[in-house]
Amino acid sequence: MKGVVLAGGTGSRLFPLTKITNKHLLPIYDKPMIYYPIQTLVDAGIRDILIVTGGRNAGDFLRLLANGKEFGLTHLDFTYQEGEGGIAEALSLAEHFADGERICVILGDNIIEGSIREAVQEFMTQPGGAKILLKEVDDAERFGVAEIVDDKIVGIEEKPKAPKSNLAVTGFYLYDEHVFEKVKGLERSARGELEITDVNNSYIADGAMTFSYLDGWWTDAGTFESLLRANNLVAETIAKRGEL
Ligand code: G1P
Repeated sequence: MKGVVLAGGTGSRLFPLTKITNKHLLPIYDKPMIYYPIQTLVDAGIRDILIVTGGRNAGDFLRLLANGKEFGLTHLDFTYQEGEGGIAEALSLAEHFADGERICVILGDNIIEGSIREAVQEFMTQPGGAKILLKEVDDAERFGVAEIVDDKIVGIEEKPKAPKSNLAVTGFYLYDEHVFEKVKGLERSARGELEITDVNNSYIADGAMTFSYLDGWWTDAGTFESLLRANNLVAETIAKRGEL
């Protein structure tokens, strides 16, 4: 399986931190943000990775990551998303790289304590379709929110005012080779973007979506509050493990 890290966008919610550099190059405790999703893929056994970047400082990703040798990668690719077309538009740039294989997609600002290895392995035994990872949260209205009925996922709502559950859809997505056809069939949402939630709902409509629950803490890092939380969680985890 191949891995795709989506690290585009202008990071406007973090202005002026992102005026000079890209969001995914900002520090999370002792490492640049982009290190975390790459390490999550590596921990899941994935060694062939595409970074979709964007914004003003795309070249800095190449300077920082070079050929990915530091992470033990066999192959590291880069591509560039123009504008702010949304997560699904960024994903469409991965079609050539995926080359008909299944992919594990990670949002570049999603940071976790544990591993997604088990979910990746389960997905490989699935005949096709897609798989997402859910996490219980207190502020579901900030995320895509899953509705589960009789242990089956029946729909996802993007940032609902009145969430139907407290289960956030995390930024880890496993897709078969049909994902790119699905992206091509999407229409832009009210905010002018191609939404990953619409891709996922299309798999749900086909009865081809499975889910599992993410163990350990999970956070995004796209706002001042969540960026600070991510830093604190990583610092606490490192202190607990006695790594520094
Ligand atoms: C995006 C997705 C949302 C998901 C979240 C996870 O939100 O649209 O469904 O729950 O990532 O981090 P955004 O980063 O646009 O707030």
